[in-house]
Order: sequence, then structure tokens, then C-alpha cells
Amino acid sequence: MSEKEFPDWDNLYKNQKVETMPWYNKDLDEDLKRELDRRRIRQGTFLDLGTGSGSQAIQLANMGFRVKASDISEAAIIAARKMQSENINDNTKQIEFIVDDILNSKLNDEEFDYIFDRGCFHVLPIDKRLIYLIEVNKKLKYGGLLFVKVFSDKEPSNDGPYKFSENEIRDIFERESFLVESIDKCVFQGNLLPLPKALLVTVMKD
Ligand SMILES: C[S@@+](CC[C@H](N)C(=O)[O-])C[C@H]1O[C@@H](n2cnc3c(N)ncnc32)[C@H](O)[C@@H]1O
Repeated sequence: MSEKEFPDWDNLYKNQKVETMPWYNKDLDEDLKRELDRRRIRQGTFLDLGTGSGSQAIQLANMGFRVKASDISEAAIIAARKMQSENINDNTKQIEFIVDDILNSKLNDEEFDYIFDRGCFHVLPIDKRLIYLIEVNKKLKYGGLLFVKVFSDKEPSNDGPYKFSENEIRDIFERESFLVESIDKCVFQGNLLPLPKALLVTVMKD
């Protein structure tokens, strides 16, 4: 598979309004919401990894989760803090937004019940996936769940992130002490129409 090129994330967030970005979704990702409902998950700690605008972190905090949210881009974190201040209440003021590169993470002192990755894993270089898996594994409690949303290989467009088949995803995650619990075929809600075909992968730290 050939390497894809991605924007300089910090430049992107400096120069574009988050609301106009292809993946922007003000509401909680509906596939994550369905998965949380199905599993009756109502409380605990969440890391929103590659948080971007912070919209998902804000929605999770509004549901009562204790949320930390990280992104490689400082400009994204500034935008996320602004969105937090515009949606301030007792839940959202607890969210901690931090600049952190998952491939060189300084966030080493905490383990979470849940991690949500909506669109970060599928933009990482192929040869860095193992580092991601090791880092995410360190950040999850045993029995904790990682929810990863990626583009599906059924998406016809070749623009944008890497795309994955269900078998590929199983191979990648099951190599590194994770158990793939479910893979749901879904779409990536945002500003792209038609909505790109996606997978929501739920993985347990084994
Ligand atoms: C497709 S966007 C999704 C943003 C957000 N999760 C959402 O759903 O709106 C991918 C995000 O991953 C972040 N990102 C890319 N590489 C990263 C890395 N190595 N560590 C942390 N974040 C990263 C980007 O800055 C960007 O905000």
C-alpha cells in the first residue's frame, strides 16, 4: 500500500474554521452513542484522542463522563478550549484539553476506562501504527474499551485517510493484546456528502 500525505495539522487548524472541516460533527458521533447505549456505558473516564474541535469531548462530558482530550495540534486545542468556553457548564468545565502527539506521548501517568479515536488512527503513517497500538494500550485499563472510527474499504473515494477492511482491522489490533469485540459498518458524519463509508471498531484491552 502506498503512503498517503496529510496536511500539517497545526497549519490547518490555524487557517480553517473547525466547523468547515470535513469531519466536523457538533453532535456526539451517533455510532459511538449507539455502542455506549448497547453496552449500557454511562460513566467513567474517557480520553478523546485526536480531539480536533473538541466537539466529541464536549458531548461526552455532557453525558457525565470525565474527559481528557488530546491533539497533536496546538491550534486545534486552542479552538477546542474556545468551544468549551462557549458550552460551559458543570460537566464541560472539567474537560482537560492538552497538546499531545500519540506517537510521542507525554501523557503517561493515567489510565482511562475508554478511549475514543474518531479519525486519528486512519491518518497515521503505516509504519507508526505499532507505536500507536503500544501507546493506546498503555493508556487503557485492563478490560477498558477503545472505540476507533476509520474509513472503510467500501468507501469509493480515494481521497483522504487510509481505508480498512474488517479483516485488516482485526489483524492490526489483535496482534497487540487487544480483542476486537465488534466492527460496525457505518458512515463518517461530517461535512462530506455523501457521508463516507466507515467502520466503528470496538476493541478491548485483553
Ligand atoms: C480527522 S481529524 C478528527 C478530529 C476529531 N476527532 C473529530 O472527530 O472532529 C484527525 C485529528 O487527529 C489529529 N492528529 C493527527 N495526528 C495525530 C497524532 N500523532 N497525535 C494526536 N493527534 C493527531 C489531527 O490534528 C486531527 O485533529
